Amino acid sequence: MYKRLERNDPCWCGSGKKYKACHAAFDDKLIALEHKGFRIPSRDLLKTEKDIEGIKKSAVINMAVLDEIGDKIRAGMTTQEIDDIVYRTTTKMGGIPADLNYEGFPKSVCTSINEEVCHGIPSEDVILQDGDIINVDCSTILDGYYSDSSRMFCIGNVSPEKKRLVDVTKECLEVGLKAVIPWTPIGDMGHAVHQHALDNGYTVVKEIGGHGCGNGFHEEPFVSYVSKPGTGMIMVPGMVFTIEPMVNMGTDEIFCDEENEWTVYTADLKPSAQWEVELLVTETGYELLCW
Ligand code: MF3
Ligand code: CO
Repeated sequence: MYKRLERNDPCWCGSGKKYKACHAAFDDKLIALEHKGFRIPSRDLLKTEKDIEGIKKSAVINMAVLDEIGDKIRAGMTTQEIDDIVYRTTTKMGGIPADLNYEGFPKSVCTSINEEVCHGIPSEDVILQDGDIINVDCSTILDGYYSDSSRMFCIGNVSPEKKRLVDVTKECLEVGLKAVIPWTPIGDMGHAVHQHALDNGYTVVKEIGGHGCGNGFHEEPFVSYVSKPGTGMIMVPGMVFTIEPMVNMGTDEIFCDEENEWTVYTADLKPSAQWEVELLVTETGYELLCW
């Protein structure tokens, strides 16, 4: 997969340096891992400096939108009002809501309340109630670059059980971040996330996970949070992906809304929570790009 260049050729990364002084050692490391049987990213998954700058600018909008939601969200508000804020704030800042019309998704953001696992569709008919927990999952396109993150919000007086689910889900994300160790398999990271959820008596959704992101919305690899250690793609410096576990209070079983064909619910209708960040793998660990 990795064509070795001549040592004096210009490097494939576009730095203008000779290959031997640039990515030759990096490629050797990757090829050695591939020979050991690990999955390695194709070169197009390794972001350039320009890509990273672009993703960061897109993320400025995405995070401003979520900050704005955090300021405004309250009981009595409809999820359509959340959608309006997302559309208005994103476009005012020059961005495009990535969700809007994505594979036919009708709104600018996903709003998933309580037993809704993900892909809740904003509506005039859905009014936030005291005690709800809601995930607002927002994604932005700016100059072709994608940012993606989601946050949980607790509306008014949330029960201790639901509050704990929200908090532990955030801890799961933090445990995942600590496991972003360059040159190790991504399955180690997903396993660490899963273990933290299990240790707290929760389950993790298997079918839906994270993804590479940046030059497209959903890039390789699929990022599972129920993965086995030692499996999956090697986390290579330059890769950008999301950590976004969906953690359930009860069963990990889910079903999809038959009418709108989007919204995913827990099979036992017990609450589910999710936080999402987008990160860059670096030589020493990771850099958060969007949260
Ligand atoms: N933002 C979601 C993610 O984290 C994707 C939502 S796609 C939509 O990957 F169509 F439902 F908006
Ligand atoms: Co995502």
